[in-house]
Amino acid sequence: MYCNGWIFTCFICLSLQVYLTFGLLKDECLEEGILSNEKLISLSKRIVPDLYGTSKGDSGKIAVIGGSLEYSGAPYFGALAALRVGADLVYVITTEKAAPVVKSYSPDLIVYPFLSRNYATKINELLQKFDVIVIGPGAGREDEQVKLLLDIIQTCKILKKPLVLDADALFAVTKNISVLSGYPAPGVILTPNKRESAKLNSAVNNNTDGHWHRYWGENVSVLVKGQEDTCYSSVVKFRWALVGGGSARRAAGQGDILAGALGTFYNWALKANLCENEQSTQLAQSVAMFAASTLTRTCNLQAFKENGRNMIGSDMLKKIPSAFSEVFNKT
Ligand SMILES: *[C@@H]1O[C@H](CO)[C@@H](O)[C@H](O)[C@H]1NC(C)=O
Ligand SMILES: *[C@@H]1O[C@H](CO)[C@@H](O)[C@H](O)[C@H]1NC(C)=O
Ligand SMILES: *[C@@H]1O[C@H](CO)[C@@H](O)[C@H](O)[C@H]1NC(C)=O
Repeated sequence: MYCNGWIFTCFICLSLQVYLTFGLLKDECLEEGILSNEKLISLSKRIVPDLYGTSKGDSGKIAVIGGSLEYSGAPYFGALAALRVGADLVYVITTEKAAPVVKSYSPDLIVYPFLSRNYATKINELLQKFDVIVIGPGAGREDEQVKLLLDIIQTCKILKKPLVLDADALFAVTKNISVLSGYPAPGVILTPNKRESAKLNSAVNNNTDGHWHRYWGENVSVLVKGQEDTCYSSVVKFRWALVGGGSARRAAGQGDILAGALGTFYNWALKANLCENEQSTQLAQSVAMFAASTLTRTCNLQAFKENGRNMIGSDMLKKIPSAFSEVFNKT
């Protein structure tokens, strides 16, 4: 009798185990077929953390590394988007000259004036505390700056930090494509526009028959921005393309807003543990890109309705709260 009971209990345990493994994980990771936009929206909603019962820092510490004397707006747009979307703390690492300018735009950001080789040790110390690091907006393309960005990416690789690379960081990658080789999970998301995509393509196309997005393997995903936003994941069924929602007007700063928002969503998607198998990184990347792309396009459309062709990046930033509640049905 006792023995039977024991076996029966084990049977229940085992069934429960099977149910948990397949019931919960089946959906997104194991199902065949590409993810529909409806599915992507519902997954995007799932990654947004609850406001209640969390403590400061739980919703993310995001860093934006970039900016220069000419381009002080780019890191500001990126950082403020990350913050507005819902990260708890957003840090900007920028040049000594740009730092006071960025600080004066917003008291909500934490700004470090360390974007220089002289502060390499300081930067390396800081990198450890961030959940996701967005590199590139307004960073500049001088040789010195390119070297510095490549060094930072290399350090992030050792620290296994998830990265979003945009703008001048993509330029830096074209100067040494091996910096992303073997990048560990949770990986890297590249956000090139059409022109940057063509540059990256010619930097790596010797080895890939034009499929440059696959060059760095499974942990690197790409979001090509344009009239249509296209996600290239190493997992074919996680790819998608998005049209509509935007306007014909592309405001300066829009790319920075997308990159910053993506920083916050990427962190949330990784924490949400959408599936726990070997494709979880790729799914998190795909869903984060979808959330950021949808939100940015909605901001664009809302700001365009109000300002028409006179719309500017700051108008889009102001629309993040209303766009967010439209897309995610959450305030
Ligand atoms: C390119 O990056 C790799 C890996 O980070 C590094 O080992 C190599 O020295 C770099 N090459 C150049 C020319 O900077
Ligand atoms: C992806 O990340 C995993 C886990 O860090 C690592 O084992 C694997 O080698 C990486 N893949 C590539 C192609 O770098
Ligand atoms: C392509 O390969 C050739 C020959 O190996 C090499 O000389 C050239 O630099 C490569 N181009 C790129 C963009 O890697």
